[in-house]
Amino acid sequence: MKKLKNWDNKTWLSSKSYISQFNKFLKFRVNLNKNSKILDIGCGRANIISSLHKRYKFKNKPVGIDIVRNKDIKKNIIFRKIEASKYLKKNRNYDLILIKQTIHFFSKTNLNLILKLAKKSLNSKGKILIFSLKTKNNRIPCFKKMRKKLEKNLKRDEVLFKIIKKNLKKISYTNFNFKVNISKQKYVRMIRERYISCLLSMSNKEIKLGISEIKSKYKNQIKFTDTLKCISYRK
Ligand SMILES: C[S@@+](CC[C@H](N)C(=O)[O-])C[C@H]1O[C@@H](n2cnc3c(N)ncnc32)[C@H](O)[C@@H]1O
Repeated sequence: MKKLKNWDNKTWLSSKSYISQFNKFLKFRVNLNKNSKILDIGCGRANIISSLHKRYKFKNKPVGIDIVRNKDIKKNIIFRKIEASKYLKKNRNYDLILIKQTIHFFSKTNLNLILKLAKKSLNSKGKILIFSLKTKNNRIPCFKKMRKKLEKNLKRDEVLFKIIKKNLKKISYTNFNFKVNISKQKYVRMIRERYISCLLSMSNKEIKLGISEIKSKYKNQIKFTDTLKCISYRK
C-alpha cells in the first residue's frame, strides 16, 4: 500500500490555527514546562512538537519519530525515521508520549507491544495521549466509496480502542473539536493527494470519480467539525 505523505501537507492539520488550538487543548491535559521530555509517535512533519518547543523552550528537544521521512520536517526538533516499537525498546524517560492519528496504522499485535513499551517509557506522572478520529457520526466530507472505506476503518479503530483500554486500564476520554472551513478547490486537492489513509488503496480512476462526486455534492466552501477522540493515560 502507498505510504501516507500528504496528511499535513498544507492542510487544515498544519494550519496555525489548528496547531494553536490543539496545543491549547494539550495545555489543559498535561503540565508542560521547560524540563518536560516529549515523544511524538507518527509525528509526520512534526508541526505540533515544533510549536510546543517554540512555546516552552524545552531543555531536551522534543523527539518525533515516523516511518516516513517527509519533506519539510520541522528543524527545531529531533527527528528519527524509525518504527515506533523499535524506538521505544531503546529510549525511555518521557513525560509525554503523543500518538496522534497514528494507531490505525498499527497491527493489533504491534499496538499491544507499543502500548506496553510506551508505559515503560514514561517518567513518574508521565502521560500518554492518544488521538484518533471519532468513530460515530464522523463529519469528514466523503464521496460514497471513501465513506464506505472510512466507516470500515473506523470499525477497526473501535477494536483498537478496546486494546488500548485493556492495556492502559485507567484512562479518561475527551474530544478535541476543530471547525474546518475550507474551499472546495483545496479539499479536492487534498483528496487528489490522498490526504487520509482510506484513500491510499484506491485506484486513480476511483479518486477521479470521487472528486467529481465531491464537486457536485458540496458548495464552494466546505464547513464541518473535525473531531478527535482523546484517550489519556497517566502513570
Ligand atoms: C495520519 S499521520 C499523523 C501525523 C501527525 N501525528 C499529525 O497528527 O499530524 C500518521 C503517521 O504515522 C506514521 N506511522 C505509521 N506507522 C508507524 C509506526 N509503526 N511507527 C512510526 N510511525 C508510524 C505514518 O508514516 C504517518 O506519518
